[in-house]
Amino acid sequence: MYKLKRDIRGKDIDNMMRENPIGIMDSGMGGISVLREITRLLPHEDYIFYGDSKNAPYGSRTTEEIYELTAHVVEDMLDRGVKAVVIACNTASSAAGKRLREKYPQLPIIAIEPALKPAVINCPGGRVLVLATEATLRETKFATLMEAWKDRAEIIKMPLPGLPEFVERGELDSPELRKFLMGHFNKLEGKRVDGVVLGCTHYPFVRRVISELFNNEVKIFDGAAGTARQLRRRLYARNLLNPSSEPGHITWLNSSDDPGMLELSKKLYDIRLD
Ligand code: DGL
Repeated sequence: MYKLKRDIRGKDIDNMMRENPIGIMDSGMGGISVLREITRLLPHEDYIFYGDSKNAPYGSRTTEEIYELTAHVVEDMLDRGVKAVVIACNTASSAAGKRLREKYPQLPIIAIEPALKPAVINCPGGRVLVLATEATLRETKFATLMEAWKDRAEIIKMPLPGLPEFVERGELDSPELRKFLMGHFNKLEGKRVDGVVLGCTHYPFVRRVISELFNNEVKIFDGAAGTARQLRRRLYARNLLNPSSEPGHITWLNSSDDPGMLELSKKLYDIRLD
């Protein structure tokens, strides 16, 4: 284990064990929506899923705070011998992805981003609503993405502070949740929306409610499947795909002291979303 830790942080990881787990992190439960896609695509890998629920939500924190929290989780996963890291949190990706890649140049780091590209491509000339955290929407990473696509559709940014907390307590549909969302969507003043980007990994857990509040008439996009494909590409390119033909294993970690969080994690992993 320690040899591996030294290897991945040093120059040469060519002999990295392909059997080692993949680390997937989020500020809390949200990244499980990404984990679900990843395990579907790569069923023979082992995973460590680390939800930092004790420190969630990240979305209203400063960039520096988000970086420190994310770096701490990545460090912990490296201590456990992960061969690659997936930042399954748009907020953490925006605030920490670039710096972590600079810090660990040998470590494959896959960082999710809001699925603006597929949304704009599928709604040309239309109106695309991007739902994400305050931090994701204010960071340069999103500004750059928006700059690339802003001429092909009208893009509306809408932060939803408070929404991850519903998911963190397993509240995926309730009158309070609907009221919360309507309070935000009413700001659109009835404008037609063609596509909705779920730019926070917590939001796919309330996808059905969001869709219903738009009368099931909008196309909804999230970055989970794209992130899973990106992970597979990166592992393949580095010859790091696990050669096993056995089903992989997930180790669940959560920084919260509440033992119910691990139970909720497994429930969110198995729940039907469509
Ligand atoms: N799941 C995180 C994301 O994708 C954010 C939730 C939070 O605010 O912690 O952005």
